[in-house]
Amino acid sequence: MSGEHRVLLIISGGIAAYKALEAIRRLRERGVAVRAIMTRGAQEFVTPLAVGALTGEKVFTELFDREDEQDVGHVRLAREAALVVVAPATADIMAKMAGGHADDLATAVLLATRSPILVAPAMNPAMWAHPATQRNVAMLAEDGVRFIGPRRGEMAEAGEAGFGRMAEPLEIVAAALDLIAAPVAEGGGRLLASRHAVVTSGPTVEAVDPVRYLANRSSGKQGHAIAAALAAEGAAVTLVSGPVTISDPPGVRVVHVESARDMLAAVEEALPADVAVMAAAVADWRPAKASRGKIKKDGSGKVEPLQLVENPDILATIGRHRTLRPTLLIGFAAETSDLIRNARAKLKAKGADWILANDVSEGSGVMGGDDNTVSLISATGVEAWPRMTKVEVATRLAERIAEALAGQSEAAE
Ligand code: CTP
Repeated sequence: MSGEHRVLLIISGGIAAYKALEAIRRLRERGVAVRAIMTRGAQEFVTPLAVGALTGEKVFTELFDREDEQDVGHVRLAREAALVVVAPATADIMAKMAGGHADDLATAVLLATRSPILVAPAMNPAMWAHPATQRNVAMLAEDGVRFIGPRRGEMAEAGEAGFGRMAEPLEIVAAALDLIAAPVAEGGGRLLASRHAVVTSGPTVEAVDPVRYLANRSSGKQGHAIAAALAAEGAAVTLVSGPVTISDPPGVRVVHVESARDMLAAVEEALPADVAVMAAAVADWRPAKASRGKIKKDGSGKVEPLQLVENPDILATIGRHRTLRPTLLIGFAAETSDLIRNARAKLKAKGADWILANDVSEGSGVMGGDDNTVSLISATGVEAWPRMTKVEVATRLAERIAEALAGQSEAAE
């Protein structure tokens, strides 16, 4: 067996640890050497003996093991891996990774490695949805860590459903093989492999003069999370973003724009695509004429009225395109009243396939916040999603998109 494709599998504590055994078998079947590290928690669920029988190697458990430190050691473990996979990854190990902790062998190796890291989270849905976990996930994604899952499903605890179930061993193996073959940024997950997605995000800003502008309120959190989720499922993603303060999602091609007209041009340039998600808060109007120089007060107290003209509607323009319309076109409807009725009207008027309707009225906390409550509206009906984080909305949407595109491909065959 060649040592070059060596996966270092870190098993942390969780009931999903038994699935790691299956992942090891599948990787070895594919000619990949696997070395395993188990945290103390992991050993409550499966034994190092069972793991070692499958890897065919010693299983590492201690940071300060006299023998290992002389023999292998955490730095060597970190260096010899082509890829580090954490499966299952608990909320705790992700928090430690995000904080740069290194108080046991697993975390020390994660801090010392320069190889790509793939994380397969597994936890109770409430723990996954907790803002602290979501914050850690966002930080790790920013550090270049790749994620696979979690998936939605019934949890081991009776009656609990939601996001938190670990991705299936074969999905983890596929993502791992992909990262070994292409260590940088080409999409870890598989559900949307070979698909192209275009996402708009953030506000647009419309110049009044060189120092002033009109804009919409938008943090870009939802649109950026959608771009990241689609990329995590293997799609090639072009994100067209207005000015935001959050950072570019990893593994995504980002085109930075300012005005609605620039955004439309960048979207058209990025097409064709299998799916487009228009999450940007596009300014509906722009000053009829942007002044070249700064508009000065003349001391009279009189203010020139601002003449506005309507901006192009990007979603509607793409919806009408004969040749460039994506297979699946998705918009948002930000409403403060009559949510479903207004969203349905937008679905029709703009020629979209789905509209994600969200209530952005004061007190909803959606604007700038980490949570969102959306309803997915299509020609066939309305599906109300429970309140969840924007990252979860994005993950769920990416899964729905993958299902819809797979369904269409089958229908076309
Ligand atoms: N949108 C767009 N171009 C515009 C305005 C909106 O592409 N010039 C897109 C948004 O990205 C979103 C959808 O259209 O996907 C609906 O945006 P929203 O702000 O809710 O609605 P508007 O069309 O602006 O309508 P209104 O302001 O009347 O509610």
